[in-house]
Amino acid sequence: MLNQRAADLDSADPLAHVRGRFILPEDVVYLDGNSLGALPAAVPAAVEDAVHRQWGTDLIRSWNTNGWWDAPVRTGDAIGRLIGAAPGQVVAGDSTSVQLFNTLLAAARLRPGRPLLLTDPDHFPTDQYIADSVGRLLGLEVRRVPAREAAAVLAAEGDRIAVAAYAPVDYRTGELYDMAALTAAAHTAGALAHWDLCHAAGALPVRLDAIGADFAVGCGYKYLSGGPGAPAFAYLARRHQQTFDHPVTGWHGHAEPFAMSGTYTPAPGITRARLGTPPLLSLAALEAALTAYDGVDMEDVRAKSLSLTGFFQDCADELLDGLGFTMATPRDPARRGSQVALRHPEAYPLVAALVARGVIGDMRAPDLLRFGFNALYLTHADVLRAVEELRDIAISGAHRAPALQERPTVT
Ligand SMILES: Cc1ncc(COP(=O)(O)O)c(C=O)c1O
Repeated sequence: MLNQRAADLDSADPLAHVRGRFILPEDVVYLDGNSLGALPAAVPAAVEDAVHRQWGTDLIRSWNTNGWWDAPVRTGDAIGRLIGAAPGQVVAGDSTSVQLFNTLLAAARLRPGRPLLLTDPDHFPTDQYIADSVGRLLGLEVRRVPAREAAAVLAAEGDRIAVAAYAPVDYRTGELYDMAALTAAAHTAGALAHWDLCHAAGALPVRLDAIGADFAVGCGYKYLSGGPGAPAFAYLARRHQQTFDHPVTGWHGHAEPFAMSGTYTPAPGITRARLGTPPLLSLAALEAALTAYDGVDMEDVRAKSLSLTGFFQDCADELLDGLGFTMATPRDPARRGSQVALRHPEAYPLVAALVARGVIGDMRAPDLLRFGFNALYLTHADVLRAVEELRDIAISGAHRAPALQERPTVT
């Protein structure tokens, strides 16, 4: 039954051909693309070219002749297409944490006199740490309000709130929040909306311009598959670019970087959000990785992602019943991102046993087994195999093997 359903869904999959744009090991079911995306087939040749020809042969001339100087904005525009941002509003480079710090502080500076910064107690740790740091630097109180309560708080005391900083997808449970509604609630209160798109960019349609988002950041190494430590990106809505007063005033954001002036004059447009010299080898990998989305409609990505996650939930209902698992991810498609998380008291050894069998997911303390679904390269047959292996492990107790109890640094 489940086998037949998987086969039917896979044979009707309009994105089936895109799997060939990735290099995946045989026999591996890769459900960790929400942590580190798989290797796009276009990347090795692009990196090879960047190293040997551009760096090795063309040397410093590459800044002009091989498009190095424009790479952050060019790559930013390619990401913009996936997140609903018209060209000229996204820049790529640096890490998510750096982009977060830079844009969150700049956003708060745009609302002087408002003493509160709102963020989620379930936000990814780096987001909370940086919000606290911005709060200390600007003398703001950081108030942690869960995403589903934020609109009410904005309505009640919105005139005191400078920025609401949230993520559309909960990184642990995969719960999806209504970005448009929260952005509108922030604006009604006169506050700004800042989004962390790490678990949304490339995974589902994000309509930044259409919903009127103010600022956003996201990483390049999850669904965008830009590689380990890939550059992150920052989105600055065009209407904020001329007043964007950011703390990391690096020389690449200067109006005339090669005038070598001793004082900072910001460049116009998105260019002012450039920081220092970007990691060009990583940018070459990310830019090549993004070609995996060529001709791909984000609505099709969303439809397939929901089909994969919904099928995973159905398989879990049928095959894991009575084995101690509970579903942490909403079943309502409108409230589900592109991942499914299960709770189980033995989450770590269960995930370790799955990985030993070539089904790669991850765990988040204390009890979550987390499975990410990249619609560009996964099949419903992969999903079924993952749940069947998990059932087999849970029934056989294979996860109780002593070798699977030791936790490495990265889980
Ligand atoms: C929502 C979110 N923000 C930020 C990060 C990480 O930030 P950085 O790329 O600086 O390590 C992650 C990493 O998993 C994340 O899930």
